[in-house]
Formats: sequence, structure tokens, C-alpha cells
Amino acid sequence: MAGATDPADGLVGSALRPGHPDFLDLPWNVPLAEWEGRTARLEHLPSGPSRHPVLFVSYAGVLYALKELPPEIAAKEYGLLRRMADLRLPAVSPVGYVRARHRGEEAGVLITRYLDYSLPYHHLFMQPDLERYRRHLLDALAGLLVQLHLGGVYWGDCSLSNTLFRRDAGTLQAYLVDAETSEVHPQVARGLREHDLAIMEENVAGALMDLVAVQALPPDYAVEEVGPEIRRRYEGLWDEVTRVEVIAPSEQYRIQERIRVLNDLGFSVEEVELAAAQGGQQLRLRTFVADRSFHRDLLQGLTGIEAEESQARQMVNEIRELQATLAQRANRSVALSASAYRWLTEVYQPAMARLQPLADPMTPPAELYSQLLEHKWYLSERVRRDVGHQAAEADFAQLLARRRGLPSGEAKTL
Ligand SMILES: Nc1ncnc2c1ncn2[C@@H]1O[C@H](COP(=O)(O)OP(=O)(O)OP(=O)(O)O)[C@@H](O)[C@H]1O
Ligand SMILES: [Mg+2]
Repeated sequence: MAGATDPADGLVGSALRPGHPDFLDLPWNVPLAEWEGRTARLEHLPSGPSRHPVLFVSYAGVLYALKELPPEIAAKEYGLLRRMADLRLPAVSPVGYVRARHRGEEAGVLITRYLDYSLPYHHLFMQPDLERYRRHLLDALAGLLVQLHLGGVYWGDCSLSNTLFRRDAGTLQAYLVDAETSEVHPQVARGLREHDLAIMEENVAGALMDLVAVQALPPDYAVEEVGPEIRRRYEGLWDEVTRVEVIAPSEQYRIQERIRVLNDLGFSVEEVELAAAQGGQQLRLRTFVADRSFHRDLLQGLTGIEAEESQARQMVNEIRELQATLAQRANRSVALSASAYRWLTEVYQPAMARLQPLADPMTPPAELYSQLLEHKWYLSERVRRDVGHQAAEADFAQLLARRRGLPSGEAKTL
């Protein structure tokens, strides 16, 4: 099959969202497997196992992932990812697809934005502090499935290799990367949810057995316990979000309480439904959630900062604490937006200006800030009093500098 290309080979057509390059300069006349050496745009980044060829290209520092598939499947996956984006679900963001001809045959290429700062699961499983990450990894995958199901998405191929992970204030956030088998429904029926969970259990066990086989995990690793553990976490979160509460008409405060619990879990509440029961003696309270970006949206609205949900929750808490302090000092109420502005210009921006030049460029800014908060907490715990922002920042800056300038052994002494 290999050999001279046909003059008719090359791009046949494309459908792309605005705001991205046109990708016309790429070597569309050959399959992705033969792009090495034909374009200077290739970037070599870690990726999970895949049946289809996947490449990463860079345009002015912005990275894109390209996946070669049969043309109709590329178009279908693009459509599914668009629907997930409209539903604000955590999935890679679709850019478009290309149809190209190679030696008389048509192929499709799905283009997505590279999920910046993301890690495939095997990187996490090979971390020395695996145990710390493991729990977060399970929560992240369970949380992703809950969000998809709440949004009406049946995944059909939930697995560790079809998920990408991002660090989030000491925890992890999971993103769907492979939507090929997904279906969007008005609601995901119990049977379909069960199906997704069964697929997840089987796939997770398979992926972990592969890691044991290559000795990335110890031979006695309890492979078969991980899937059921993710299922338990899934069921717990699902029940918490969807449960119906029965309240007395005099207990209206419980409506606010319910909304607060959901917000704390990151869910934005879209609708609260009340229905009289027991001849009006009781009210059945049901809440419907929109997405799991409550603090992200709030932080972005207040400060413009883009963060993951747990990072954003930490920052919003700081802004609220500052609001309380300012109000106490001024002896009057202070708007959250006013305290957000003070926090941004007097706390966040100066800290980042100092720390970012010292930090590993692979650490996203919001994560760096959350590491600073963790460092402050750690120092304060050690001396059993609040060491304050400035002292924590100075100490953290020294730690970052040592990490970059000296062998890692020395940096661990703090
Ligand atoms: N937008 C993206 N950002 C970062 N990494 C990506 C992106 N798209 C794909 N990848 C990487 O490529 C890998 C393979 O992608 P994907 O799972 O979609 O391929 P596949 O061939 O359809 O897989 P399967 O074998 O499950 O069918 C992912 O695990 C991920 O590591
Ligand atoms: Mg895949």
C-alpha cells in the first residue's frame, strides 16, 4: 500500500468551529501514521493506549489532538462532543473534523483542543505517591460518570484510557476523551446507567491487569476491588444529588440547606421542585442540577480566573473570608465583588507574579495558587498558628527555587 501518493490525495473537506486555525498546511495527502518528518507542527506528548492513530500539533503554542477514524465516525464523534460541550460536561473540546483522501481511500480526522495540563491514568498510577492519588482518581471517575448520566449521556466505553485527569487542589478532575460510543438521551434510564457501570468495572480491571503485567503495579495489587469501589462512590454521589426530601411546610430553611449541600459538591442548582403530599401536610422537595461548575463559574465571574472546581472553591472561600474581615473592619456590609477585586489585586496577582517564574511551567496557575494554600496550611499546622500569607509565600518561593535549582533530594527537607 505504501508508495507514491495519488495527485487526487489530500484534503477533501472540513468542518471547523471558528476561532481556530484552518489546518490547511498539514500533510493531509498521507495518513497520520506517516506525518513524522512532513510537518514541523508535531508535538510528542504522553497519550493513552488507542486503536486509532492520535497525533498532537501546535499552532502558536496552542495544542490540538488529531485522531484518524473512518469519516462518518469522525463526524459522529464531533457531533457528540459538541452536544456534551453544549451541556457543559467535562469532555475534551471539539474543534472539527477533516475528510482526507489517501491513495484513493477516504479517512476522517477528528480535531479536539488538547486538554492542557492533562495526564493519562498510567502516569498517575506510576506516581510514587500512588495511594494519595488513588482515592482521588476513583472519585474523579465516579464523579465524571455521575455528571454524564445527569446530563443524559450514556458513555458506552467508560475506561481509564478514555479518561484524562487534571490536578485540582490536591484532588483530580476527570474528563471524557473518547465519545465514539456515546449516546445522548433526554434521560439515562437505570438500565443504561447499570450498563455503563458494568463496562467501567470490566475496563478498569483490564487496564489495571495490564499495569500489573508490565510491573507498573505490584503483583498482589487488588485489581478486582477498584471497579466496585468506583461503583460505590458513583452510587453515593448519585443518591446524594438525586434524592427526594420530604419536608414540613414550616421547614423552608431546608430548601436553602439542600441547595447549599449541592453547591458545596460543586453542582449548580437549576430548578427546585416542590409538590404537596399527605394532603398538604408535607412537601416533596426535588432539586435539578445543571452542571458541576458552581465555584468555577462564580470565581470566573468575580475575577476572570479559570480554575478547576476544587481550586475555585478554595479561592472563593478566601474571597468570602476577606469579605467578612473587610466588613468587620468597616463595620458595614461589603459586596462579594468588592472583596473579590481586593483579593485579586492584593493577594492573588502579587503572589502569582512572584511564584510563577519559579514554578514548573507544567503547573497551571490556579493549581500553583492552591499549592501555596496547601503550603500555608502545612506551615501553620507545624507551628500551630496561622503563619499568614506573606510568610507562607516567601517559604513556598524558596521551596520552588530549590526544586528547580538543586537535585530533588534537597528540596524534600522542608
Ligand atoms: N484532546 C485531547 N487532549 C489530550 N489528550 C488527548 C486528546 N485526544 C486524545 N488524546 C489522547 O489520545 C488517547 C487516545 O484517544 P482516544 O481514546 O479518543 O482514541 P481511540 O483510538 O478512540 O481509543 P479506543 O482504543 O478506546 O477506541 C487518549 O487516551 C489521550 O491520551
Ligand atoms: Mg480510547
